[in-house]
Amino acid sequence: VTVRILQFGATGQLAREMLDRTGDEAAVTALSRADVDLTQPDAIRRAILDARDVDLVVNAAAYTAVDKAESEPDLAYAVNARAPEAMAKACQARGVPLVHISTDMVFSGAKAGAYVETDPPAPLHVYGASKLLGEQAVLGACDRALVGRVTWLFSAYGQNFLQIMLRLAASQPVLKVVDDQRGRATASADVAAFLIAQAGRLAQAPAGAPEWGLLHLVGPTAATRLEMAQALFEVAGLSPTIEPVPTSAFPTPARRALNAELDSTRLQAVFGLQLRPWREALEAVVGQMGVTRGGAA
Ligand SMILES: NC(=O)c1ccc[n+]([C@@H]2O[C@H](COP(=O)([O-])OP(=O)(O)OC[C@H]3O[C@@H](n4cnc5c(N)ncnc54)[C@H](OP(=O)(O)O)[C@@H]3O)[C@@H](O)[C@H]2O)c1
Repeated sequence: VTVRILQFGATGQLAREMLDRTGDEAAVTALSRADVDLTQPDAIRRAILDARDVDLVVNAAAYTAVDKAESEPDLAYAVNARAPEAMAKACQARGVPLVHISTDMVFSGAKAGAYVETDPPAPLHVYGASKLLGEQAVLGACDRALVGRVTWLFSAYGQNFLQIMLRLAASQPVLKVVDDQRGRATASADVAAFLIAQAGRLAQAPAGAPEWGLLHLVGPTAATRLEMAQALFEVAGLSPTIEPVPTSAFPTPARRALNAELDSTRLQAVFGLQLRPWREALEAVVGQMGVTRGGAA
């Protein structure tokens, strides 16, 4: 049987990877901004309650401009906190489960090791605080909700670290890359593949099942931004001059945590799997981007 997924977000990195995988296993109906503006809770509620066939709701949309959120807090809170709350309430009323995507940025980075789901959050900025409120609202309003936290999403789509590095490498004589931020970067493709593969199980899981709650959706290995950039250029056959710099060399309105590493033990324990190591996923994504040895296509 095909699981029918109603998805908020059609154009984002993760949303597009979900749409790429729509098929016999799971059929994804994606709602774009033109269909439902996430600043309108009534429109969100109607979209869920009026949808014809839906077994699972996925929220792949968010206000993701981390620095801009400092000057647009109302919009960030509306999209990242009140919108998922409206989704969770409507899902609860309709009796369908909800998958909501969150972030490592709910943490301050002060912990010495990788963060587990039970660690207390302490966001450093508006974006992180708005995402934390969204998590809490979702888990409080819907008893069949999975909140998957991801880190440094990368894909062949949209603007992410990989595209930025390739663009800068082509335009700057020396590329400054931070070497003191560490995390387990997640391929959007791997999150989408996980959600599509688990959609049937999630659609069936009753309230109280171990599938629900917070889940760190990251791979088994961590790297610094510098290590990721080096791997990217190696795979792409490029050799720009790189200057390692500390995060403090790039002052940003929203302060970045140095330790963004999430632990994936719970993913392994509950679902019996791990996502690909970042390096393997990066090779696949670079291949998909059409980057050829010696230059970007
Ligand atoms: N990117 C990362 O590195 C990262 C890291 C950790 C966690 N996350 C989380 O992962 C999830 C997916 O992120 P992503 O990188 O795929 O996001 P993205 O590429 O920035 O896409 C965001 C999506 O949200 C939609 N959206 C924003 N405001 C909206 C509104 N008011 N009404 C309707 N739609 C709206 C956008 O639509 P438009 O195209 O119309 O603007 C777009 O489809 C998010 O929950 C994010 O917080 C991302």
